[in-house]
Amino acid sequence: MIKVLVIHGPNLNLLGKREPEVYGKITMESINKKLKEIAGKKKVTLDIFQSNHEGEIVDKIGKAGNKYSAILINPAAYTHTSVAIRDAISAIDIPTVEVHLSNIYAREDFRHISLISSVAKGQVSGFGADSYFYGLDAAINLVKKSK
Ligand code: DQA
Repeated sequence: MIKVLVIHGPNLNLLGKREPEVYGKITMESINKKLKEIAGKKKVTLDIFQSNHEGEIVDKIGKAGNKYSAILINPAAYTHTSVAIRDAISAIDIPTVEVHLSNIYAREDFRHISLISSVAKGQVSGFGADSYFYGLDAAINLVKKSK
């Protein structure tokens, strides 16, 4: 059974109200519902976690290696700052797919650097909520191909 851990980083709990011109009007709950639907159709189990705290995300990733087949993560602002999350991903043996609603390369300079992308299998950026859905497909395909 394929099990994927979805991690939403800081402020993504505010989606829907937060800068809708950048992130769209969709809420995190709606994204989660759609992710569950996609996973259900593919007979994949999904656990979903959101935190505004770097250490909580590091802890979650550190324990994921034994429990999950892959991680789908939107590290949000920690994308650009967190060596700790980067190292946690690097420390485990399962593949990670990085996603962003906005195209981080088309925004402010400080968003052009992702500390996560070098330890992720790949990145999906700029397709709004669809970034998550494409990313989930990619994560599932990666796991299937590795079996
Ligand atoms: C984001 C992009 C980040 O730069 C930003 O800090 C976020 C969301 C995105 O999904 O587009 O919080 O990860």
